Amino acid sequence: MQIAFVAADQDLSANAVLGLLTCEGSALLASDGPYARAAAGSRFTGGKGQTLDILGSDTATRIVLVGVGKAAEFDAMAAENGAAAAFAHVKACGLLSLRLVLPVDDPAFAAQAALGVRLAAYRFDRYRTKEKPEVKPSIASVEVVTAHPEAASHAFGPLAALADAVSFARDLVSEPPNVLYPEEFARRVKALEGLGLQVEILGEAEMAKLGMGSLLGVGQGSTRESQLAILKWNGAADPAAQPIAFVGKGVCFDTGGISLKPADGMEDMKWDMGGAAAVAGLMHVLAGRKARVNAVGILGLVENMPDGGAQRPGDVVTSMSGQTIEIINTDAEGRLVLADAIWYCQDRFKPKFMVDLATLTGAIIISLGNDYAGLFSNNDELAEDLLAASKAESEPLWRMPLPPHYDKGIDSMIADMKNTGGRPGGSITAALFIQRFVNGVPWAHLDIASTAWAKPSSKPTSPDGATGYGVRLLNRMVADRYEG
Ligand code: BES
Ligand code: MN
Ligand code: ZN
Repeated sequence: MQIAFVAADQDLSANAVLGLLTCEGSALLASDGPYARAAAGSRFTGGKGQTLDILGSDTATRIVLVGVGKAAEFDAMAAENGAAAAFAHVKACGLLSLRLVLPVDDPAFAAQAALGVRLAAYRFDRYRTKEKPEVKPSIASVEVVTAHPEAASHAFGPLAALADAVSFARDLVSEPPNVLYPEEFARRVKALEGLGLQVEILGEAEMAKLGMGSLLGVGQGSTRESQLAILKWNGAADPAAQPIAFVGKGVCFDTGGISLKPADGMEDMKWDMGGAAAVAGLMHVLAGRKARVNAVGILGLVENMPDGGAQRPGDVVTSMSGQTIEIINTDAEGRLVLADAIWYCQDRFKPKFMVDLATLTGAIIISLGNDYAGLFSNNDELAEDLLAASKAESEPLWRMPLPPHYDKGIDSMIADMKNTGGRPGGSITAALFIQRFVNGVPWAHLDIASTAWAKPSSKPTSPDGATGYGVRLLNRMVADRYEG
């Protein structure tokens, strides 16, 4: 996708669509305005989400009006969503380019519109060999009109880095599990060294030396080797400044193990590495925009399979923390991976805080539906920062409780704890389990099982499938609270 910022007076080619983001009550719709007759033949009023096509006018081959709601409420997010909706509406119409005109000419809005287009244009088509050209997206370049193209380009710099990072995360989530197994995931993040990140990969022998019996037990039934990826971005003025840390669940495929999942929908478990993908995406954008912060990303990469060597319900494993865990259900594997990844993270890096992201429980989907991820935290300030970033980036998040007395539900008869607490409050007991591996560090856990994948998607900036949820939210929190 080519994106450019252009001055208003350039000619429009016959192969271009003109996209006009239109507010309610816009002068464009006035009865003496150019589009009043077309609007009169429809119910278009400029309301959010509405579109109106005008074909064969004197001025352009195709014009699309895209409603963006009330003028007084038009902001960067409205520009982003309007641009995304305009792109999605015409992307496969056969014409080659789209020129977008915003109701307010502000270079920050123009840049945000370009971000909307980049996110809406994401597509994972690597394995489609027979798609007919007439149904493929045709729009290959987008121009955003502004009187300040240079300022808009400048503002777009960090947003383009964000779009690259979200696409990277979406690709990881979209890849089939026979292609993206732990070692392949590790190779793809190792390649991010090209952006200036430092990346270390630990294999099973190294993790065994560290005593990571909890993580290793999950991968035990797979022929693929488990990996731990450690990504470091050192962008702070003081290279020795205490880092912030992010930990991701990277279950490249979750069959459930011996506690096997039912066949129906099991293919969805390829995206059980969405937490690790979001952390990798975050590190990608921090490096891409040269964020002034020291950050660490830890990815626990495993495959949960049921072969003859697989772990059994009833097994007891010893985690790196020294705490023992009785396995009740081998399908509650994400928390076992996080237990060791989190312990390793705080032990080695002594971070200011840790945020983990995980497609951890089906129960969070039952609790919150498909728009909100669940937030659990032992620290109100960190929780507030995450909620503020979530609002700013439109990646909805809802805080959930960590009631101390629920914690008894994961006590075990024969070990320090068991890995499931039954169905009631399943997301909460999962979070309480992880909390047992947090050693006095401010910590937050994002259960993104509800948001990592969207089908159907409810957002113009997120086509059906992998969302990349978390990359924007965390990038915003870092930018607003931890840089400079
Ligand atoms: N990866 C799943 C959670 C999940 C479910 C993610 C649906 C995305 C969509 C997780 O490993 C899992 O299997 N959790 C179990 C826990 C239970 C056995 C205590 C669950 O949610 O059913
Ligand atoms: Mn599972
Ligand atoms: Zn899982």
